[in-house]
Amino acid sequence: MKDMTGVYKLGELKDRIKEIKGIPTGIEGLDDLFFTFKPYGKGFKKVSLGGIPQYAVINLTGVSDTGKSLMAEQFAVWRAGKGDRVAFVTVETPAAFLSAGLYQRAMAYGIEKEVIDENIIIIDAASYKDLRENLPALFDTLAYVFRTYKAHYTVIDSITGLYEHKEMLARVFVRQIFNFLKKWYQTAILVSQKRSSHEELSAEAAGGYAVSHIVDCTMVLSKKIIQSTYDERLYKRPIGELIRLFRIDGCRMCGHDTDTHVLTISETGLVSIGPSLKEILRK
Ligand SMILES: Nc1ncnc2c1ncn2[C@@H]1O[C@H](COP(=O)(O)OP(=O)(O)OP(=O)(O)O)[C@@H](O)[C@H]1O
Ligand SMILES: [Mg+2]
Repeated sequence: MKDMTGVYKLGELKDRIKEIKGIPTGIEGLDDLFFTFKPYGKGFKKVSLGGIPQYAVINLTGVSDTGKSLMAEQFAVWRAGKGDRVAFVTVETPAAFLSAGLYQRAMAYGIEKEVIDENIIIIDAASYKDLRENLPALFDTLAYVFRTYKAHYTVIDSITGLYEHKEMLARVFVRQIFNFLKKWYQTAILVSQKRSSHEELSAEAAGGYAVSHIVDCTMVLSKKIIQSTYDERLYKRPIGELIRLFRIDGCRMCGHDTDTHVLTISETGLVSIGPSLKEILRK
């Protein structure tokens, strides 16, 4: 019978991924929020993935100043520190300014400047309009970086900046970016700006409507001022204080924690994921 394009028996798939591995992110408290199941005796048991799922394209979203860029930079610096090459597409912050932040994160982690100098490849779409406004040009550049530097990790901060004034087309853009990163087997973090603070911890209006249906995984960041005695009791923080929250909104590649966690940013600019609100209330 004539071969039909795109049809395979599962066992005949050439590039099949049999097992999902975890990629450590360096972000304290995050890696154990993803899990998988392994054969155990006659059954199976739940085990931590110890990182974000390999080959996942992740949407990291939230309103402004919630810690998205810090987290994305931390991931890039941590992977680079482990000897991996990372393609970092900067869309909002020109390369010269981004580098200062990356060095800060490296210093906080105790990673040598020379190591990240070598392993982080910056694609400056903030300064070069063509990279920002012409998706095929950005893909050509990224393909060059993947081939030349053997980069398996990509950060884009932010994808929202790639379709400014064209948000109705967000899904079309994100679909193309997603397919491209999948084709290159990238483990990727796409930062997106959440426009509306309505439904703080949902992915709605995150990087454009329904973008979260396209990506493999969505993580949502939010912030809140403690304003009432109810808030005080719930969050165990005094009135007037700012609290940051984190939640994994969905991940189709593996199991994941679904609680809302407190997110903190250290003085040195390192994000960590703390206890869940459930745990705080129990104390
Ligand atoms: N050492 C530090 N370096 C940078 N930011 C810090 C540091 N310490 C604390 N912060 C806090 O982290 C916040 C910056 O977060 P970040 O830049 O990651 O926001 P973002 O979610 O990317 O926002 P935007 O959508 O505006 O880009 C600052 O508002 C500041 O309050
Ligand atoms: Mg940012």
